[in-house]
Amino acid sequence: MTNTEKRIVLVTGGTGGLGTAMCKKLYDDGYIVVANYHNETKAMAWKKKMHEEGYNIDIYFADVANYDSCGLMIEKIAKEVGHVDVLVNNAGITKDGAFRKMSYENWRAVISTNLDSVFNCTRHVINHMIEKGFGRVINISSVNGQKGQFGQANYSAAKAGMHGFTKTLAMEVANKGITVNTISPGYIGTDMVMAVKEEVRNQIIAQIPLGRLGGTEEVAYLVSFLASEHANFITGANLSINGGQHVY
Ligand code: CAA
Repeated sequence: MTNTEKRIVLVTGGTGGLGTAMCKKLYDDGYIVVANYHNETKAMAWKKKMHEEGYNIDIYFADVANYDSCGLMIEKIAKEVGHVDVLVNNAGITKDGAFRKMSYENWRAVISTNLDSVFNCTRHVINHMIEKGFGRVINISSVNGQKGQFGQANYSAAKAGMHGFTKTLAMEVANKGITVNTISPGYIGTDMVMAVKEEVRNQIIAQIPLGRLGGTEEVAYLVSFLASEHANFITGANLSINGGQHVY
């Protein structure tokens, strides 16, 4: 990419473990990167640290569970930076618990933050991508959306739903130069995974043929590849990156 044709990437949940690695990799690749955040204090510290490391990444607030909040964020980005060319729907939370004990609030919170968010953000960027004749939508799902996981009825449902969305939108915009794909990471060494009780986590790691957690950079490289023009022919796909934990 030359300076005049720099593409704009928005990473939702950009200040989290996976999000940070994606922002850095895409910045290194020459994109203009903007990171969405939810927690102001954490985001300000993150932005400062990124600048100290040489990453000039602007941050934009939105509650991705809220359609209007996403609209305002994307409008602001369009005014201040430009229209989003590459959207990485990465923001997500867990509220794990056996289903028989799962509250309605924990169901709703995970569905709205992890799945409604995909509609909320994509809906606001898709028409500009269509006008431009180029776009990338990359949905960060999970191995647990593919295989299910004890204690994650809410999370697995949301993550499986993301790929249903991917398949349909990929069909609808394939002739507009836009690709839509899902990445399904397995257990990556993020705070989210480290929050699982050590004993349970060790049992999970024992089920991974590679015998370790994944690295955030390993996922970021895949995002970077899908964002690039080398991936023009990949759309509607669900790419696994899970150390062999789930093969099918
Ligand atoms: N498979 C089968 N049975 C299980 C089980 C499992 N994995 N885990 C617990 N059980 C059983 C127990 O044996 C026990 O059975 P009995 O009632 O017959 O004695 C019962 O379930 C215990 O139920 P509890 O509700 O008391 O379970 P708990 O409070 O001990 O733990 C849990 C529930 C918090 C969900 C715990 O199992 C857990 O943390 N699981 C891991 C969830 C997980 O992998 N989360 C991933 C977070 S990271 C992420 O999501 C990123 C990504 O995309 C990969």
